[in-house]
Amino acid sequence: MHAVVIHEFGSPAVLCPREFPDPGARPGWVTVALRASALNWHDVLVRQGRYGSPLPHIIGADGAGVRTDTGEDAVVLPSLNWGGRDDAPSTRWEILGDHTRGTYAELVSVPADCLAPKPPGMSWAEAAALPLVGVTTYRALFVRGRLRAGESMLVIGAGGGIATMAISLAVAAGAGIAVTSSSADTIERAVAAGARGGVLHSEPDWPVHARAMSPNNAGFDLILDPVGRWSESIRALRPGGRLVVLGAAVPAGASAADRRAVGIAELRGIEGLPITVQQIIPRRVVSQRTRRSKAAAVRRAKAAGVVRPETAAAR
Ligand SMILES: NC(=O)c1ccc[n+]([C@@H]2O[C@H](COP(=O)([O-])OP(=O)(O)OC[C@H]3O[C@@H](n4cnc5c(N)ncnc54)[C@H](OP(=O)(O)O)[C@@H]3O)[C@@H](O)[C@H]2O)c1
Repeated sequence: MHAVVIHEFGSPAVLCPREFPDPGARPGWVTVALRASALNWHDVLVRQGRYGSPLPHIIGADGAGVRTDTGEDAVVLPSLNWGGRDDAPSTRWEILGDHTRGTYAELVSVPADCLAPKPPGMSWAEAAALPLVGVTTYRALFVRGRLRAGESMLVIGAGGGIATMAISLAVAAGAGIAVTSSSADTIERAVAAGARGGVLHSEPDWPVHARAMSPNNAGFDLILDPVGRWSESIRALRPGGRLVVLGAAVPAGASAADRRAVGIAELRGIEGLPITVQQIIPRRVVSQRTRRSKAAAVRRAKAAGVVRPETAAAR
C-alpha cells in the first residue's frame, strides 16, 4: 500500500511517501480502505517523538473509509484498549497512531469496536476530522460534564479545537453557551455558531464579566476549561456547578497557582489523560468535614494513648 512513513522523529520533512506492507489479518480487527485522513495536533506530537513510537512508523489518529469486510462506510474511532471502566482508560490505552500504525496510509487495521457508521450527510474529509476531537469533547460535555438541554455553559478559549467542537455540540443539545477568548473576532464567530456572547479572557476580572452572562448572574451550570485557567474560571461557576478541565496543556502565562492547583506540570508526562473535577464542594461542607475528621483523629489518638488529652485539645 502507499503510506506516509516516518523513519525518524522531527519536522514535517521526516514524513516520506513510501510503499509499505499491508496490515495483516488479526482476529477481531478490521482493515479499512481509507478515503480520508485528518491532521490533529496529536499527530504532530507523535511525529516529534513525544510518544516514543516504534520506527519505521505510520502516524495518524483520525480517518474515514470503507470496511473491507462488509463494504460499509465507516469512521475510525482512534481510542484503542480503553478497557472496561467508564470513568478512566486502562493502562494499555493508546490513541491510534501512537504505537499502532495509523491513518496516513491507504489501509489501516483497527479493532472492530473502533468503527462507527459514517454519518451519511458528511463528506469523507468531514467524517475523517470528527473522531478524536468529537469523541473527546462529547465525553467531556455529556459523560463527565453531564450537560443537559436548558443548562448554561461557559467555554474557555473559544478559538481552540475542543472549544469549537464544544460550542457546536452544546448548541445542538439545547444548552445556552457563553465563551471566553483572547480575540473579539473569535467571540463573534462563536456567536455566529450559536453562543449567546463572550468576554475577553485577557481583561482583568474576566471571570466576573463572564459570570454576569450566566442566567440571573448566578454562575454557569458547567464550565469547560480545555486550557488550564480553572483557578480563575471557577469564579464563574454556580454553587454546585460542574467544572471539566480537559487536557494537559500549560497555557502561556499560567500562574504558579494554576500549575499547583491541578499539578499540570507533573501531568505533562501523561498527556492525554483527561482530568475532571466532578463536583465542587462548598467551603462550608469542607470545613464541617475537616472538623469532623480532626475530631475523629483526636478520638483515635486518645484511645490509642498516642497523645495526652490536653495536647489533643490544643490541635
Ligand atoms: N483537539 C483534540 O482532538 C484533543 C483531544 C484530546 C485532548 N486534547 C487536549 O485538549 C487541550 C485543548 O486542545 P485543543 O485542540 O482545543 O487546543 P488548541 O486548538 O491548540 O487550543 C488553543 C486555544 O486555547 C486558548 N488559549 C490558549 N492559551 C490560553 C490562555 N492562556 N488563556 C485562555 N485561553 C487560552 C486560545 O483560545 P482563544 O484563541 O479563543 O483565546 C487558543 O486558540 C489540549 O491539552 C489537548 O492536548 C485535544
